[in-house]
Amino acid sequence: MTQKDYSAYFDFSTAKVVREQDGKTTYRIKGREITINAAPSYKDEKRRGKEDIQVHYDFGIPEDMQAFGEGKRYLVVTYGCQMNEHDTETIKGLLEQMGYRATEDREEADIILLNTCAVRENAEDKVFGELGHLKGLKAEKPGLMLGVCGCMSQEESVVGRIMQKHPFVDLIFGTHNIHRLPHLLREAVFGKEMVVEVWSKEGDIIENLPKKREGIKAWVNIMYGCDKFCTYCIVPYTRGKERSRRPEDVLAEVRDLARQGYKEIMLLGQNVNAYGKDFTDRTYTFGDLMDDVRKIDIPRVRFTTSHPRDFDARLIEVLAKKGNLMEHIHLPVQSGSSAILKAMSRKYNREQYLQLVRDIRTAMPDVVLTTDIIVGFPGETEEQFAETMSLVREVGFDGAYTFIYSPREGTPAAAMADDVPEQTKRERLQRLNDLLTDLSKASNDRLRGQTVEVLVEGESRTNPDVLAARTRTNKLVHFTGDRTLVGQVVQVRITEPQSWLLRAELIREPQRNAI
Ligand code: 5AD
Ligand code: SF4
Repeated sequence: MTQKDYSAYFDFSTAKVVREQDGKTTYRIKGREITINAAPSYKDEKRRGKEDIQVHYDFGIPEDMQAFGEGKRYLVVTYGCQMNEHDTETIKGLLEQMGYRATEDREEADIILLNTCAVRENAEDKVFGELGHLKGLKAEKPGLMLGVCGCMSQEESVVGRIMQKHPFVDLIFGTHNIHRLPHLLREAVFGKEMVVEVWSKEGDIIENLPKKREGIKAWVNIMYGCDKFCTYCIVPYTRGKERSRRPEDVLAEVRDLARQGYKEIMLLGQNVNAYGKDFTDRTYTFGDLMDDVRKIDIPRVRFTTSHPRDFDARLIEVLAKKGNLMEHIHLPVQSGSSAILKAMSRKYNREQYLQLVRDIRTAMPDVVLTTDIIVGFPGETEEQFAETMSLVREVGFDGAYTFIYSPREGTPAAAMADDVPEQTKRERLQRLNDLLTDLSKASNDRLRGQTVEVLVEGESRTNPDVLAARTRTNKLVHFTGDRTLVGQVVQVRITEPQSWLLRAELIREPQRNAI
């Protein structure tokens, strides 16, 4: 009798239990030993427990692992959203504390980790493609450690597929146990078996994890998880229930980053407006947090992503104070049709979204709004898509991430008939993107000749004499200037607006505290 039933993962005609010990089960499948410490379960991921979140401040790398990576190189390949990018910074921080150094060269790496995204199928296809390439590399260099982590690891079907079809992978871990990396690496290296440890029950909050940040902008997590359960979305399963970091911890981190000289902070959460709802000992909302961050001496603060349903008056009032709070709001709408929004379980309708936009614009007339939109959701008619187009026009978005609906196993929408033909989905996406390009061009044209404040982020990708900067509204600006301006807030005049780029000229040298 096995301690846990992992039959969902294996073809049991070929899998044999070789060991059961300390709550772990080791199987042999096609000659490869696989130890499962914990495996994901859709059923558990759906559950939302009432227990309080524990915050841990005692993280440390085990002594015997502190020099484990000395003389070795790591590579982390990141897919997906900014949350994942930020998790990668933690993974890199952990690896560096173990003595590893970075490399961009797959051939040189001693450990390669794929930090994956599950939000759409094409993101998953890329990962399986990459695993195919890495198989050859592993054959040439058996000492190479290969790991898969991130959102795909939280999916039962993915873990099963890797075990069966990609047994050369050494390590699978999830989004809730990144801090376990040193322990799992030790097990995988010394045990010479594939180690699977994916927690389904969302964990606690682990503070003090190392982070390897680069550049002048820093991401800061304010909360983890999502309880919204939009019917198309896998995130509430892969990222667990909403849990907020304590305000003291967030504010201390932002202050510390300001001291270190970072110029811009991006506050991160799947649904930042839900910040603080899980506190049982105090009333403190996202608006309150923004008001406190506003008082910290850091030039720019942004946040992503907000949910329209919870965008309250307090938050609008605080954002309207501006200062280091930028007048750009990313406000995913997903669809302009109330019927589709209902089927998506977004918990607002078209009119409520438009009313929210009016309220925001009344308080902040110069705000720039961007959004996320899904086309081809099950049952979306031409009329309903036309409502999305008309909403986009009415709001006048300056940009959007647009997606073709992708069914995700385990979500309610995956059980609905995916009945919009592929060709129609593509056409709708094209029409939507054309409209968004026109709107962005028109909005950018209105900036011609205007003086705007930009933060210089670095050299442009194509020409080192041209600097890349961002307006307060997050528009990309290119202008000719000296490298020494990187990290400074300067004034530029917009000379040549394009659809997705503003060409400009420098008109004033930086001033201290010019925000
Ligand atoms: N199919 C297509 N797009 C999706 N998104 C989330 N889930 C899906 C899906 N199943 C989009 C939403 C979300 C963004 C991060 O990804 O627009 O806001
Ligand atoms: Fe997914 Fe909806 Fe949560 Fe956003 S709010 S992460 S779309 S479930």
